[in-house]
Amino acid sequence: MLSIENNKNLKQYNTFGLEVYCAFFVEINSQDDFKELIKTEVYKNSQKLILGGGSNILFTKNFDGLVIKNSIKGINIIQETKDDVLVKAGAGEIWHEFVMYCIKKNYCGLENLSLIPGCVGASPMQNIGAYGVEIKDVFYSLEAIDMVMGELKAFNTEECEFGYRESVFKNKYKGKYLITSVTFKLNKTPKLNTNYGAINDELKNMGITNAGIKEVSNAVIAIRQSKLPNPAEMGNAGSFFKNPEVSADKYTALKKQFDNLVAYPLENGNYKLAAGWLIEQSGLKGHEHNGAAVHTKQALVLVNKNNASGNSVFELSTYVLQKVNEKFGVQLEREVNIV
Ligand code: FAD
Ligand code: EPU
Repeated sequence: MLSIENNKNLKQYNTFGLEVYCAFFVEINSQDDFKELIKTEVYKNSQKLILGGGSNILFTKNFDGLVIKNSIKGINIIQETKDDVLVKAGAGEIWHEFVMYCIKKNYCGLENLSLIPGCVGASPMQNIGAYGVEIKDVFYSLEAIDMVMGELKAFNTEECEFGYRESVFKNKYKGKYLITSVTFKLNKTPKLNTNYGAINDELKNMGITNAGIKEVSNAVIAIRQSKLPNPAEMGNAGSFFKNPEVSADKYTALKKQFDNLVAYPLENGNYKLAAGWLIEQSGLKGHEHNGAAVHTKQALVLVNKNNASGNSVFELSTYVLQKVNEKFGVQLEREVNIV
């Protein structure tokens, strides 16, 4: 039986820990719940917002519509060969718990993505990534319900149009589909990805010479815990901005001026710049604005340090955009979804 609540406080449902309210709130646990929901007057007459773990969202105001908290659970092996396995997870499964489940089973591919907050359903939204791996590398397919027609549709990798922190669901299908499950293709024989320098350094620190997937996961967790704030202790949504891509000409000009510029060459000839470095070099590490702050250990992360409002966090992000542009002539782009 569906229960639609009125005037719900979303403080527990967003990792910035902001006290904002939505007009209507409903939690769905199955596709049948959604079929029931779609028939209601509240659904028909309201603006809608799907929420997983609320770890990539900034509420700048109350939401005058229906929040649909997706809690569809379930993990199933749908195909297995001697080399790989297709694992299907409900959108409402907690991402890190799902990663831990796969590691326990010795399924390889998700270990570099350990400890990312949020739910499985949001992972393809922005093609989550960390330490040299993105969802697209292990993605097989997903199922999503058309929010107008109520029909279930399957999407393969190509149809998802994955890019760096991008997918078709963030662009032309924004707000159109509710993702109900995601299927991943994982290896049964470990193919570890430890190219990301920090992982090897961490494994060395831990005294590990012959790492398996559990050790890689532990190394990733240790690195993350050393620089990313725990949302339970200080509200945040991870990287607030994307790392910007610039042309080779722009890179060369910047490199001449700033010898220690942190940048990575891309296959298309452009360069990706470390936005955290740009922000830090703009003198903004630790900078505060009405309770919001640039994190002292990772300048790419904005935190709710002291009872900030969503609007203060947003204003701080605008200030960061302006300062980085003034110093480097580079326009950063927000990565977090703004409501
Ligand atoms: P939410 O914030 O609830 O939603 C995000 C967006 O997806 C919203 O637009 C929402 O409407 C939509 N959405 C959610 N679920 C569904 C669904 N089932 N169907 C359709 N649309 C949906 N991200 C990385 O990529 N790499 C990192 O290393 C990383 N580190 C982080 C560290 C910290 C401390 C924090 C707080 C965040 C970090 N993030 C990182 C960002 C965040 O964890 C991911 O973007 C995550 O996938 C968001 O999941 P969520 O369930 O919380 O999504
Ligand atoms: N740096 C600084 N100062 C800072 C922060 C970073 O100089 O305050 C420089 C450092 O030189 C560092 C480089 O920037 O070597 C890169 O930093 P880091 O390895 O911490 O990664 P990032 O580029 O800041 C990205 C993702 C993270 C992901 C990590 C690890 C984006 C927007 N962010 O951060 O994802 O966990 O790499 O792969 O791509 C997220 O999306 O929320 C997120 C946390």
